[in-house]
Amino acid sequence: MRNGTVIVPVALAVSAFLFSTQAGAEDIGCQFQRRTSLPALLTETYTAPTEGWVMSQKRYEAAETVSLPVPSGQISGADLVAVINKRRSIREYTARPISLQELSDLLFLGSGVTDKKPYISLRSAPSAGASYPIEIYVVANAVAGLEKGFYHYVPEEHLLEVIRKGDFAVQLKELCLGQAFVKDASAIILMSGVFPRVCARYGNRGYRYVYMEAGHIAQNLYLGATALDLGSCVIGAFLDDEMNLFCGLDGEEESIIYIHCIGTARELKG
Ligand SMILES: Cc1cc2nc3c(=O)[nH]c(=O)nc-3n(C[C@H](O)[C@H](O)[C@H](O)COP(=O)(O)O)c2cc1C
Repeated sequence: MRNGTVIVPVALAVSAFLFSTQAGAEDIGCQFQRRTSLPALLTETYTAPTEGWVMSQKRYEAAETVSLPVPSGQISGADLVAVINKRRSIREYTARPISLQELSDLLFLGSGVTDKKPYISLRSAPSAGASYPIEIYVVANAVAGLEKGFYHYVPEEHLLEVIRKGDFAVQLKELCLGQAFVKDASAIILMSGVFPRVCARYGNRGYRYVYMEAGHIAQNLYLGATALDLGSCVIGAFLDDEMNLFCGLDGEEESIIYIHCIGTARELKG
């Protein structure tokens, strides 16, 4: 199936929805902009973490864990300019599973810990006040050496926590408005925003920051996938309530905000 056959029906459905609620959509957009604006005289400053700083990181304490291989040298030789030029949204994947090493590399590039400072670990993507409000979940459909299932990534220890095992490919496709390529992806990376983590410090402004941060991580994933000769595509069109239900999130304090499909690109590998 060509990319366009997937995008066009989704784009039509989304436009029809937006058209039917245009007044409301404009209204909420303006409200969002206004209510997350900084007052003219307020200056924001970054303060370095000090003793007592608590790193934000969700844990599923009772969960079984899966160690991830150390991020590999395969990515270290990539030419950044060439990778940026080559990056595309790829929606056609072969049946070849990705390796656990590739998943490990991607998670590390997306949101891994790249430096440890006193009281805090810094990650591959920037974060407002180093608050790290994005949690990362993985639905593994075809990852060699990893059972099919739903996992949570822990950057600090570079491991996965098992939330539940099972084949969720078709369910995920349905939750993404039937976008067919979702079911063919080897791994689906789900990004949630944990709003209080950043809003506690920045008020409503924090809502903007959470979405910006998901964009940073997604671009890291795009470039990482390209460097690894994999295909990937982000998804913004999904059923919010149903997706949060699938993930066990309340949709208010923590909500899925962005999704990234990964697979072996049909164009690149047979
Ligand atoms: C916020 C956002 C949401 C998107 N949502 C979808 C989506 O739901 N389904 C899809 O197939 N592509 C989605 N895309 C990918 C775009 O269609 C793609 O980036 C665009 O066509 C440009 O192509 P390129 O990424 O290959 O440069 C999304 C991209 C962005 C930035």
